[in-house]
Parts: sequence; C-alpha cells; structure tokens
Amino acid sequence: MTEEIPLYGVEDTSFKAAGQYDGIKQMVDDFYDIMSSTPEGAQIVRMHPKDLSISRDKLTRFLCGWTGGPKLYSEKYGSIAIPMAHSHLRIGLGERDAWLFCMKQAIDKQPFADSFKTYLYEQLCVPAERTRVVSEKLHAK
Ligand code: HEM
Repeated sequence: MTEEIPLYGVEDTSFKAAGQYDGIKQMVDDFYDIMSSTPEGAQIVRMHPKDLSISRDKLTRFLCGWTGGPKLYSEKYGSIAIPMAHSHLRIGLGERDAWLFCMKQAIDKQPFADSFKTYLYEQLCVPAERTRVVSEKLHAK
C-alpha cells in the first residue's frame, strides 16, 4: 500500500491545515508579538503603524484567502496585490529576512503538521522575495 502524502495548496486544503480563520488568526497574532519583542523584528515593527490591530486583521484576512479559504481581505478592504501594497516601503534583504524570521517562529509555535509547517514557510518565501525585488526596483536610485 502506498502512504498518502497530504496535498496542500489544492482548493482549501491549506486553509484547513492551518486551522481555518482561528488558526490563522493565532499565527498572525504570534507573528506580530514576535515582531514586537525580538531584536530581529525591531527593524520592521517600526515600519508599521503604532497600533498593530489593523495590521493583524489585514494579514489574517489576507492569509485566509491566500490559503484557499474565504476572501476575507477583499470583502473588507478591497483588492490587493502584495508587492504593490508595500510600494511605499523600502524592503531589502534585511527586511525580507526579518519578516521571514518572525513568520518562521510563529509557524513553529502552531499545532500544525510538520509537513504543513515546512510547506507554508516555503510558500511564504515566494511573495516575500517578490516584495523585496519590486521594492528594490521602485526605490533604486
Ligand atoms: C518581505 C518582507 C515584508 C515586510 C518588511 C512587510 C512589512 C509590512 C508593513 C510595514 C506593512 C504595513 C504598511 C502600512 O500600514 O503602511 C505591511 C502590510 C501588509 N503586509 Fe507586509 N511585509 C512583508 C511581506 C509580506 C508578505 C510576504 C505578505 C503576504 C504573504 C504581506 C502581507 C501584508 C498585508 C496583507 C498588509 C496590509 C496591506 C494593506 O492593506 O495596506 N507582507 N507589510
């Protein structure tokens, strides 16, 4: 018998593997708590508004749709393209790596399957790198 390998990224499998809205909200809350309390996070938390409650809501809602669940971000805030949503920010290698550091710590704290933790982190590296590339182009002298 062949062992069944879980398939993420198909329909809402990733959304479900992340514990749906509540699971994603917990991960995003941990992400911003880590960003606010670690030396790695310090350089990017200062780019955010002082009150992080809207940032928390926006990222939670965005990731629900991004993982194949309901499109909660566009329902409340309208359409979004991730790199352009950051076009006012200078995001280089340091900022990208700080963001990914906080996200990796947050993912590791969740009760997700190990295979999903690895998958989710690798998938998030893609828009993070794309955001850096677009930001560096926009801000090149
Ligand atoms: C590459 C490193 C990244 C950095 C340093 C970064 C930083 C930030 C900052 C500072 C804001 C707040 C902007 C403001 O209110 O003026 C923001 C907003 C946001 N970020 Fe990122 N971000 C990064 C990558 C990502 C990635 C990979 C995603 C999605 C997978 C993401 C999703 C969002 C969303 C949904 C918002 C809210 C956008 C809005 O509605 O205005 N970010 N980010």
